[in-house]
Amino acid sequence: MINVLFAARPERWSVYEAPLRTALDTAGIAAHLAMDIPPADVDYIVYAPNSDLQDFAPYARARAVLNLWAGVEKITGNQTLHIPLARMVDPGLTTGMVEWVVGHVMRYHLGMDAHIINPAQAWKPTVPPLAREREVVILGLGALGTACAQALLGLGFRVTGWSRSAKDVAGVTCLHSDAGLAQALCRAEIVVMLLPDTPATANILNTQTLAQMPRGAYLINPGRGPLIDDAALIAALDAGQIAHATLDVFRVEPLPQDHPFWAHPQVTVTPHIAAETRAITASETIVENIRRGEAGEPYLYLVDRTLGY
Ligand code: NDP
Ligand code: OXD
Repeated sequence: MINVLFAARPERWSVYEAPLRTALDTAGIAAHLAMDIPPADVDYIVYAPNSDLQDFAPYARARAVLNLWAGVEKITGNQTLHIPLARMVDPGLTTGMVEWVVGHVMRYHLGMDAHIINPAQAWKPTVPPLAREREVVILGLGALGTACAQALLGLGFRVTGWSRSAKDVAGVTCLHSDAGLAQALCRAEIVVMLLPDTPATANILNTQTLAQMPRGAYLINPGRGPLIDDAALIAALDAGQIAHATLDVFRVEPLPQDHPFWAHPQVTVTPHIAAETRAITASETIVENIRRGEAGEPYLYLVDRTLGY
């Protein structure tokens, strides 16, 4: 019998308890699953970075921390953590992100804001281009970026992706490195940001890189707030360099009432809802990693803490 600690906000327990138990049973793993196991007895920690657990030192025999979130920036710097950390890759979360990204890309692509008119507006039937005439650039070609790229490709868009290491995704123009970023941005009519928040990605969209995009480009950020220099984005919006931005994530969340994004006519704010981990499929990911840990097999989705993701 192993002991699995659920370390997340108490209200998440009722969401995850049954799916985790079902996944453990299905995998044939005998486990005591609870929110209150003495630290010295814990074998695996199912973890949300906003839980009260921030000191891992007492968890002397724990074998792995299994994150419930895709983003790990709140935990990679934790100096008390010395065991493997796995991030969340969840088919349910991925599907949610694909749907959110496709929806917001289509809003810009079809010019929905301009074309849903009222009687006071001019009757001016400008027809949007076809998807195959539109270039979408995705910064970050990981679990989420790749799935979004494939979905957009399926709709006919020309898709370019940018990542840290070289990638090969059928049908997608894959670029990497600093030179690759400039190459990607200069063709971007719509940019989707699905990078993690790391020291290397902080302010990756700044005055200089925003200026590399074609004038009037659109920006969609479901990645993380620190990827964008807020002041540089506002200046680029005011100057017409960026036509409109849809932002789901922010340096401070909830977005403070006095933040200029709220009042900016060319900014759409969504409240970090692009995609959420779905308990049933996420529990299967967690339990597969517990199974691997018990079998001595390599964990899936391990975080490289030197890279920060
Ligand atoms: P992955 O770790 O699978 O992918 C990250 C991608 O970013 C990889 O392609 C990686 O490159 C690339 N990358 C990392 N650092 C750099 C760099 N310095 N330069 C260029 N490329 C870089 O993450 P996911 O796809 O699962 O998730 C991405 C992010 O989405 C999460 O970190 C999280 O912040 C955010 N998210 C937001 C949600 C929301 O609701 N708004 C929900 C879930 C996630 P390489 O492939 O070479 O490693
Ligand atoms: C995540 C998120 O990282 O919800 O999973 O942003």
